[in-house]
Amino acid sequence: MADNGAILVTGAAGQLGAVGRTVTGLLLDRGLPVRAMVRREDDRAAALRAAGAEVVVGDLLELADVYRVVSGCRRVYFGMSVSAGYLEATVTMAAIAREVGVDALVNMSQMTVSEMSIQNTTPSRQQRQHWLSEQALAWSGLPVVTVRPTMFLETFYPLAGPTVRDRGRIELPFERGKTSPVAAEDVARVVATVLADPRPHLGRLYELTGPRSQDMHGVAREYSDALNREVTYADISPEDRERQLKKAGVPEHLTQHLLTMAELHRAGRYDRLADGVERVTGRPAMSVRDFVSLHADQFGGRRS
Ligand SMILES: NC(=O)c1ccc[n+]([C@@H]2O[C@H](COP(=O)([O-])OP(=O)(O)OC[C@H]3O[C@@H](n4cnc5c(N)ncnc54)[C@H](OP(=O)(O)O)[C@@H]3O)[C@@H](O)[C@H]2O)c1
Repeated sequence: MADNGAILVTGAAGQLGAVGRTVTGLLLDRGLPVRAMVRREDDRAAALRAAGAEVVVGDLLELADVYRVVSGCRRVYFGMSVSAGYLEATVTMAAIAREVGVDALVNMSQMTVSEMSIQNTTPSRQQRQHWLSEQALAWSGLPVVTVRPTMFLETFYPLAGPTVRDRGRIELPFERGKTSPVAAEDVARVVATVLADPRPHLGRLYELTGPRSQDMHGVAREYSDALNREVTYADISPEDRERQLKKAGVPEHLTQHLLTMAELHRAGRYDRLADGVERVTGRPAMSVRDFVSLHADQFGGRRS
């Protein structure tokens, strides 16, 4: 076992939640050596290198690449974009982490897995793959820590950014379903805390939500407070949402996942609260209002 090796962070360039990128920064801030895995050389890779990470390029679906990047690492954060090959990538990582011998693997999952079983699944191929991935990691015997966040607040950048900017409206097919979105930044703080000292966490799973579960009218009120202008919530039909996603060229796998998330919201399945963020990091999870205040530019800015 490579006791003095680096900590491997996959998906480190970051696209949406960018958990891997934030984890990389937090671990470097603690003075820990990080090997940051990216898919390609670009500005994001250069920024990670400039911050002090060892940047490695590879594809999580290629055995040889994964073997090369895991070799010499003692701990791993495993997460990648929502995509059709997720289960294959997880099992590839598990096989190689067993071969190399790591002392901790933090696996990104989803909180909906907490409600799933053989008899009770969801239509989302992504959620089914997370459920199966957790099973496979349990069989692997690896020292795993699982994080199961609910919807990320960052998901509102593409979901609500343009309409909040243009019309002061969040338009989604969530009806009166409650939700408790968590900041990916908070998720990254949990992951970094665990990776810095995994021993007390091995074998545990952490459910992660924001501090409040409320319907989208409540979420819109927090947007209004943060932006100092009126933001309202307007329901759209699932069919309209599907048409928008197809028109925007969103891949089929992601479209199906987003439509399932909306369906589960309407069914009240995102009405959840968990204290994982505070339990692991000692600090409460960020509210919608604080998140929007911090990222006001994504939503058209704050009125003075
Ligand atoms: N969004 C939510 O609401 C939410 C909620 C709960 C859980 N999650 C989970 O969070 C995870 C996504 O995390 P995130 O938002 O932090 O990710 P992200 O920002 O989308 O970044 C993931 C990175 O993975 C890289 N990647 C994709 N396919 C790859 C491959 N085959 N080989 C190597 N790298 C690859 C991408 O590289 P490029 O950028 O170069 O393409 C991207 O930078 C998923 O497991 C999702 O189920 C998300």
